[in-house]
Amino acid sequence: MNARANVGHAVATTTTPPTQHRKLLAWVAEVAALTQPDRIYWCNGSDEEYDQLCAELVASGTFTKLNETLRPNSYLACSDPSDVARVEDRTFICSEREEDAGPTNNWTAPGEMRKTLTGLFAGAMRGRTMYIVPFSMGPLGSHIAHIGVEISDSAYVAVNMKLMTRMGRKVLDVLGDDGVFVPALHSVGAPLETMGKDVPWPCNKDHKYIVHFPETREIWSYGSGYGGNALLGKKCFALRIASVMGKQQGWLAEHMLILGVKTPEGKKHYITAAFPSACGKTNFAMLIPPAPFKEAGWEVTTVGDDIAWIKPGPDGRLYAINPEAGFFGVAPGTSYETNPNCMDSMKSNTIFTNVALTPEGDVWWEGMTKTPPANLVDWQGRDWTPDCGRLAAHANARFTVSATQCPSLDAEWDNPNGVPIAAMIFGGRRSSTVPLITEAANWNEGVYMAATLGSETTAAITGQVGVVRRDPFAMIAFCGYNMADYFGHWVQMGNSLGPNSPKIYCGNWFRKDENGKFIWPGFSDNMRVLKWIIERIEGKANAEKTALGSIPKYSDLDWNGSSFPEEKFDAITTVNHLEWAQELTLHDDLLTKLAHHLPTEMTERYAVLKAAI
Ligand code: OXD
Ligand code: MN
Repeated sequence: MNARANVGHAVATTTTPPTQHRKLLAWVAEVAALTQPDRIYWCNGSDEEYDQLCAELVASGTFTKLNETLRPNSYLACSDPSDVARVEDRTFICSEREEDAGPTNNWTAPGEMRKTLTGLFAGAMRGRTMYIVPFSMGPLGSHIAHIGVEISDSAYVAVNMKLMTRMGRKVLDVLGDDGVFVPALHSVGAPLETMGKDVPWPCNKDHKYIVHFPETREIWSYGSGYGGNALLGKKCFALRIASVMGKQQGWLAEHMLILGVKTPEGKKHYITAAFPSACGKTNFAMLIPPAPFKEAGWEVTTVGDDIAWIKPGPDGRLYAINPEAGFFGVAPGTSYETNPNCMDSMKSNTIFTNVALTPEGDVWWEGMTKTPPANLVDWQGRDWTPDCGRLAAHANARFTVSATQCPSLDAEWDNPNGVPIAAMIFGGRRSSTVPLITEAANWNEGVYMAATLGSETTAAITGQVGVVRRDPFAMIAFCGYNMADYFGHWVQMGNSLGPNSPKIYCGNWFRKDENGKFIWPGFSDNMRVLKWIIERIEGKANAEKTALGSIPKYSDLDWNGSSFPEEKFDAITTVNHLEWAQELTLHDDLLTKLAHHLPTEMTERYAVLKAAI
């Protein structure tokens, strides 16, 4: 049934609001009055709705339907070349006080930012449909989950949110008439009225703002239709806003995958791992153990590939849920060699963004097959041949797929109580210095390891690629408050967990030799490291104490089925004191930058390390 709503300059057609939630209805009316859409559509989350919106996206030229035999029910979207990644320099934490955003975030006074945004959003949806997308981050009704509502003028966002979250009518049922939700407002910033005719990927080339108001728990995103800039449940809510909620409420919102490991004895351990963007979290989360491990009974299962919400349970241990319901992973480099589970996940029902199109109507990206197809249409719609000197897929090209398509999905992935966490790994992309794996002697030493994490930058953000930057907890772009306070929150969490705290590890799969080649094979061989960690948890494996922490010797890892030589293992595990002396000056820079609010535990650990190195 259609109703009419007065939205100021015009009258928008709207589906009947499927809720009596006064605050939500008032917010929708307020946004409609400001942005002046032609239509208001409440998403119900059904498959029919998804199909209908996808058909509309095909008709408008945003989507290309892929070959129904080769890639059933799947689509390709190619973005504007100016809108291909998260925009960290346009991302703001607008807390009341600047020091609450801290020195690692962009800050603008909330009043000033609201004025700017109100100006930009005024009339921003003219000529477009305003989609109301209710979503739950985490299993519906879970005590760890939270609800958000995204208002967006992008159907691409609506269909991606259907795959990435629990979305639609069922969320409004849980929300009831007065439940709490995080309002997340998004516009591509391209009012149709001023454009004359629409383009396949509307966005605003001049103005982009990804804004968070932590005190009022609001998100406003303007000008980009891409990934974390636009799918506001992911980085904006599940990390930036949720990290603030976690600090206030005694839990953790982290940039972590969650995986399960079953031992041959049938014991299940869950491990989280934090790595910066595009450092292989999806590959690690979907790891298939090497054949001899599989034969012995080792099994790895996937709970999540990007974000974990972690809360102390009634037994005093930490329990984690994956707040997301899908994967928005980096396509290039993903293949049947690197991640067969992921390749199988996206055999059908997948949205691809910025990959190349084959003449048969299927997709391709760099690294998918050893031999590239002879002809493609690249992500910018140009003819492509292997010798043309250009990438066929953008380096940050993505796939969006529901978690339920993943063959290694853990049986407990949707458990509202989460899974108990036995260990946490923090890792970066470092071609030197950082050993393959190091175990922290205790929680606070682990917090220091995580706090001082460094990584070489990747294509997941705009800017320079391959530069080492400090990325504390892999959260540099995602912590919604002062990073030093965040370290303090972690220290406090350890104090309250006491002996129930998980073991903490620092990992690095990315060491290179003098020819610039990766030394460690990674991928399924990371199982060898995982097995060692499990055996450490179970008190069965040895390690050598070093200045950094406990590091396994060659003989401490299981090399069954591997010919990886001891010299190479030594090359990636030896602590080079010269390199570390240099590394510590970088730690010092970070700690100095964060000195205001920094917990003393961090400076104390730095002093101990400095003396030891
Ligand atoms: C992501 C990212 O998309 O971290 O997960 O950039
Ligand atoms: Mn991520």
